[in-house]
Amino acid sequence: SKRVAILISGSGSNMVSLLDSMTGDHPARPVLVLSNNPQAGGLEKARARDVATAVVDHRPFKGDRPAFEAALQAELERHAPDIICLAGFMRVLTAGFVQHWQGRMLNIHPSLLPKYKGLNTHARAIEAGDAEAGCTVHEVTAELDDGPILGQARVPVLPDDTPDLLAKRVLVQEHRLYPAVLRRYAEGDRRPVMLP
Ligand code: GAR
Repeated sequence: SKRVAILISGSGSNMVSLLDSMTGDHPARPVLVLSNNPQAGGLEKARARDVATAVVDHRPFKGDRPAFEAALQAELERHAPDIICLAGFMRVLTAGFVQHWQGRMLNIHPSLLPKYKGLNTHARAIEAGDAEAGCTVHEVTAELDDGPILGQARVPVLPDDTPDLLAKRVLVQEHRLYPAVLRRYAEGDRRPVMLP
């Protein structure tokens, strides 16, 4: 089966949804959860599921992204993943690193791409008066939050929405979408998964 590494920075709820999906006859299995943040809540959740964890703290590298990524690369190579899932991983990756893993690296982003690349996606969707919002899983390319779309899920924006309320509604869909895309991707099927 395909070897999956999951990169996180925070609570890791998407990571949990991916880990918990990889059971039974699933075409992939988790081999590593890696965080740039030693305090990431997701690390304990991975350990509780008997998945190997590693931390590559970005802070000692003081903005030297290539050096940080060399350490990241070394850790990844030890676990030889076939697929890397970025799941709330909040470091921007350089073109060189992305190119090394291109075609093997996925990301989940909390907007209906190509709308709202970057941060504060939910506030921007509300501010724009959008009737719907959602999330996207895409292949990672050198451009931030770009690359072929592998799946989307949509939710309504409600009249009295706040960014937090909308984020919670979208997150429920993220937890459905990412496992659905990973399963299909691990089977070698790149057709997008479109959830209602
Ligand atoms: C998720 O909503 C994910 O889409 C978003 O961060 C959250 C992580 O939550 N990712 C980005 O904003 C990427 N730029 P989680 O740690 O509970 O999965």
